[in-house]
Amino acid sequence: MNLTLEGGKNLVRTLKNKLTNVTDVDVGVCPPFVFLKDLCEILRGSPIIVGAQNMHWEKNGAYTGEVSGLMIKEVGCTHVIIGHSERRTIFGETNTIINSKLKAVFDIGLKPIFCIGERLEERESRKTNKVVETQLREGLTNLSSAQIGQLTIAYEPVWAIGTGITATPAQAGEVHSFIRNFLIKEYGNNIACKIRIQYGGSVKPDNVRELLIQPEVDGALVGGASLDAGTFISIVLTATKQ
Ligand code: PGA
Repeated sequence: MNLTLEGGKNLVRTLKNKLTNVTDVDVGVCPPFVFLKDLCEILRGSPIIVGAQNMHWEKNGAYTGEVSGLMIKEVGCTHVIIGHSERRTIFGETNTIINSKLKAVFDIGLKPIFCIGERLEERESRKTNKVVETQLREGLTNLSSAQIGQLTIAYEPVWAIGTGITATPAQAGEVHSFIRNFLIKEYGNNIACKIRIQYGGSVKPDNVRELLIQPEVDGALVGGASLDAGTFISIVLTATKQ
């Protein structure tokens, strides 16, 4: 819930101009709902992907205040973030709700960026793997192998989001390996290898390189540092060199 419409337009215009030659990294932006249509229009024809930050699990109906996947698709989105930790902690989204949303995403023909991650007290009581496994198991219930293969998973330790505290590369790498092994065990190597696992939580130009060189870290979900075009571009350019 940041920037104005004008600010968002300026941001994506700069990204469009400056990232035209970047072909070896997929770049996307996920603006607030009310900016999506305008920003999709600006980015039309560019390789920059547009996603929403959330959606409802039903296609339409009496859900005042909600926005459906069909609606975000209609304005040009191809992707949508599902289960961001702020949706879970502030708005009470459970793994069951997130599972309904993931099913709806595939039903509609969008692609999800599925967020998981432990809270500080869970890490401190050594429950990280258990929490992440439950989020995966319950979030992915009854999805087909073909759908699982199209996932992007974002591992975002809640204590690292917007706090300036980044997981160390070793901490991120450890949980990413755990997630990959879970996916291999549950869905087999072929499917598990297709899934992109991104790290999120205070990613910045000066820490992105050491995070991305971890073997199972396939990308980054950037929050605060994406609000400034120069900072975000610097993160993308660092990623192209990995
Ligand atoms: P941050 O946000 O990069 O500002 O920590 C990440 C997020 O919102 O997912």
